[in-house]
Amino acid sequence: MIRPILKHGDQLLHERAAIVGAITPEISQLVDDMVETMYAAPGIGLAAPQVGVALRLFVVDVSVGRDANQLIVMINPEFVDRDGMQLEEEGCLSVPGFNATVVRPSRVVIKGLDRAGEPQQREGTGLLARAFQHEMDHLDGTLFVDRLRGIKRDLIVRKIKKMTRAGKW
Ligand code: NI
Repeated sequence: MIRPILKHGDQLLHERAAIVGAITPEISQLVDDMVETMYAAPGIGLAAPQVGVALRLFVVDVSVGRDANQLIVMINPEFVDRDGMQLEEEGCLSVPGFNATVVRPSRVVIKGLDRAGEPQQREGTGLLARAFQHEMDHLDGTLFVDRLRGIKRDLIVRKIKKMTRAGKW
């Protein structure tokens, strides 16, 4: 089932999410729904808070469904290693219509559980590293807009507020 995606300004997106205690049938259903919602959007990643569930869980597929082997489900992820630097345009399904250049490490290693609850460790470089970090940020209530500085961030936030007031957000 495709779930509605919350947008910037919804309080749940700006709060830290809680650890997933156990892989229950509800969690399995949530994972299925998140994958379906991500592909339908379409997007390369989706974190549970974006569909209104404040839990530490995300899905990523940089092939957007073209290659089934690239679908990654990460539950209770943690950083193991981060290095390098990349500067690329970034967007977010919760901030539709906006993108901006965000500085991120170019390589990350994260560990967590897969959808069966088995431990896994994944390394990402380039776009995958960026996706991992973007989704990790969601679990801590941080959106890419929060990583921008000064004028660029103010401009986006101001436009969102204006659209919210006009009932267009
Ligand atoms: Ni996002």
